[in-house]
Amino acid sequence: MSDLYLKFVNTPVGKTTAQTLGLPSPVPLKRWKRADQPFIEGDVLIGAANGSKAIGAVASLLGASPANLFHASAVNTLTDSAKGGNKAEPLPLDADIERKFSALVFDATGMKDTTDLRALYDFFHPTIRKLAGNGRVLVIGQNPATCRQPAKAAAHQALEGFVRSVGKEVGKKGATANLLWIAPGAEKQLDSSLRFFLSARSAYVSGQVARISKSTDAPATNPVAPLTGKVALVTGASRGIGASIAQTLARDGATVIGLDIPPAMEELQKVTDAIKGKALACDITDERAPKQIADFVQEHFGGIDLVIHNAGITRDKTLGNMPEHFWDMTIAVNLTAEELIDEELMHRELLRENGRIVCISSISGIAGNFGQTNYSTAKCGVIGYVEAMAKQVKNGVTINAIAPGFIETQMTAAMPITIREAGRRMNSLSQGGLPVDVAEAIAWYCNPASNGVNGNVVRVCGQSLIGK
Ligand code: NAI
Repeated sequence: MSDLYLKFVNTPVGKTTAQTLGLPSPVPLKRWKRADQPFIEGDVLIGAANGSKAIGAVASLLGASPANLFHASAVNTLTDSAKGGNKAEPLPLDADIERKFSALVFDATGMKDTTDLRALYDFFHPTIRKLAGNGRVLVIGQNPATCRQPAKAAAHQALEGFVRSVGKEVGKKGATANLLWIAPGAEKQLDSSLRFFLSARSAYVSGQVARISKSTDAPATNPVAPLTGKVALVTGASRGIGASIAQTLARDGATVIGLDIPPAMEELQKVTDAIKGKALACDITDERAPKQIADFVQEHFGGIDLVIHNAGITRDKTLGNMPEHFWDMTIAVNLTAEELIDEELMHRELLRENGRIVCISSISGIAGNFGQTNYSTAKCGVIGYVEAMAKQVKNGVTINAIAPGFIETQMTAAMPITIREAGRRMNSLSQGGLPVDVAEAIAWYCNPASNGVNGNVVRVCGQSLIGK
């Protein structure tokens, strides 16, 4: 369903009306368009707190991009510009800055205690107003769980509050702010995450923290088609978010098995035909489903690389009015089916080395929604499942979840208009997301270079005001 308000406020009359009445003025988000599009262009400013370790990896990736790279200098809390590599031009922060930046990237990994937080102010205070529309703020810190000293852990935890607050300030111009928490020594694992969070692929992801652990060296991939040679299963692929996931993974080179319930076959076939994939009719709550899926995978491909548990349903009623089949179905589709399918695929050793499992949670599973006790329970269970499984997976396999906020699909088009409008506007970007926003985040998890990204729950919600 199209967002008429977003279109209206971006006309001259609409802009004036919104300003006069103090209404939200969402900016159209720039999304990924062409396969050969660089992940970043324009002027990019990087900087680092003294002693930071990730700046070299950041500078080398950005130095090889078409962006004009600048390194913050002339401030004693920041490292000198030599750390930014010879591609970065020093930019003194003590003078007037004329440029507009498409991204501000700050490496805070060197912070030792909370007094070092001053470096954040020194880097962002003179530059934040120079962030362009649809720009990106990205901060890199050390995962506090890996900091032994409480003062150091506090400093790195503080980055989360900082980034969430910045996201709310820059959201007005369609810009985002996110945080990467890395484990010591995980600098080499940053590549796919920098590419995602700095690009138009993360247009609707803001105020998020992604944890990156140390892993084996990421394999070299073709940035245009990083999933070449991979086989993906996408459940609920006939429409909405699932169809977009199937299309996006195929765009990135994967061969896709789309799965949906038998009544959705005609629609599913259209989706899979267009991407030269295969369609599988299956109700994932059927007790024979795990075997049926595993048999299909074995027969056609001999194994699977990417398993995307997207199929989901809502059956809303307040708890006292909820019939038992609403409860049972919602838990079965959104949660139990995923566990049973994974169990069968892993038991039969069909999930290949460096495989990826991605589940879909929801903001409803984080914050709880009125009339959705069944759905919130299931979607919160998804988080528990992912976090527990992340500790058990082997052979380079990772498991992560996306928690979408308000995404424009048939599911949300069916909402009453007042709830729909509230869902659209109650986030830092004042608009709903598109199915492709969820799909792009899943493609980032699936990237072979995301091998250090495990056990995450990242929200694709425009930094919704609901929940944490
Ligand atoms: P949708 O209703 O448009 O699509 C869901 C798909 O799952 C449908 O094609 C449906 O036939 C399929 N499906 C349902 N039960 C199935 C079963 N037993 N076996 C096989 N396939 C089955 O939903 P939408 O909006 O695309 O949502 C996709 C996922 O994202 C779901 O898990 C949903 O809970 C989640 N989500 C969506 C949000 C949104 O704003 N649209 C927000 C948060 C989460």
